Amino acid sequence: MNFGRRFLSCLLLVPFAALPLTVVAQSTVAATPPMGWNSWNYFASKVDDKGVRAAADQIVATGMKDAGYVYVNIDDTWEGQRDASGVLHTNSKFPDMKALADYVHSKGLKIGIYSGPGTKTCAGYPASLDHEQQDADLYASWGFDYLKYDLCSFIPDVMEKQAPHDKAAQMKLMIAAYDKMSKALKAATAKTGRPIVLSLCQYGWDSPWEWAPELGGNLWRTTGDIEPRWQSMYDIVSQQSGLDKYSGPGHWNDPDMLEVGNGELSLAENRTHFSWWAILAAPLLAGNDLPNMKPEIKAILTNKDVIAIDQDTLGKQGKRAYTDGEVEVWTRELQGGAMAVAVVNVGSDRTANHPFHLDLAKAGLSGSQTGKDLWTGKEVTLTDNMPIELPSHDILLVRVDHVK
Ligand code: GAL
Repeated sequence: MNFGRRFLSCLLLVPFAALPLTVVAQSTVAATPPMGWNSWNYFASKVDDKGVRAAADQIVATGMKDAGYVYVNIDDTWEGQRDASGVLHTNSKFPDMKALADYVHSKGLKIGIYSGPGTKTCAGYPASLDHEQQDADLYASWGFDYLKYDLCSFIPDVMEKQAPHDKAAQMKLMIAAYDKMSKALKAATAKTGRPIVLSLCQYGWDSPWEWAPELGGNLWRTTGDIEPRWQSMYDIVSQQSGLDKYSGPGHWNDPDMLEVGNGELSLAENRTHFSWWAILAAPLLAGNDLPNMKPEIKAILTNKDVIAIDQDTLGKQGKRAYTDGEVEVWTRELQGGAMAVAVVNVGSDRTANHPFHLDLAKAGLSGSQTGKDLWTGKEVTLTDNMPIELPSHDILLVRVDHVK
């Protein structure tokens, strides 16, 4: 039994009020996949204090906060230099981190930060090697609620140096490094009482889903970096098969942050991207330019029905039920016996299978089912062998509340 499940069974047996404070805090961290915004996908190294405040303002103004987005996460490039005592300072883009965290908190939101276990972050800024507790204490003193911890230079700095050509020993070093920061965060938050979500970013190497939950990881990347184009998104989704059993309340597979509204994604692709992440019970961290978001992108990111699929409290990740030519059918079991069914045309140039015919048995359904089309809001009845025509890269996403 893993760490997260152990907590859940505790919660079933013990009245909430009787639990020690730290147990209550940890068990409620990331009970559903974290939702928020992260600076990297759109702003990369251009992120600054002003941009983070603007993002927080927009999360409130656009209704994203009401839809469930909570975390405002600063990614790489905030770091300055360490002083003589080893304390890390911000660079000139972030004049006062504590004031920024207070500002984000004043909006009823939470704030996240970024580092890594090596000497340098992926963008070449100072990371936490040999300063883990000092950095964890610093984040806690500023009031941070979330840490993304990115492997990067730990590979050459430590893994390849200390265990050249020994993959198994390298993996042990990597796990120990994440464990060290997890413990440092726990020690830091025991003093403040403000829990910090731990997000592991090591690109899905060495099956983090097998070991990250045990060391207190709340989410872990399952793939390399996402890019704002269909092929990247589709490659990522194709790598999620078989990982559903590792995900659940408090510990989630992370197929990377959202690219909704970025790059060359069409409206259909944006819809499909968002729906797929919901089926996968993925963290929903928007990565777009919020002050300049188009209304149709806002409509996608704030679709409460789709968000409800993602945030379903059963916490069961969905899976691909079957593939027929260029059409894929995905399903996700939901609380109270409900189900989400997604039909996706993954083909590039044509209407699905001229048209595609739904096979209810292969989708795990017996007999026709009535539900809601979550992108049109209309009632829809799924019948066996029904033809479904979808434009390229578009999706039909249906929630069936009462599965027969
Ligand atoms: C990558 C990571 C990205 C972003 C970037 C920052 O390794 O996967 O999501 O954090 O580093 O340098």
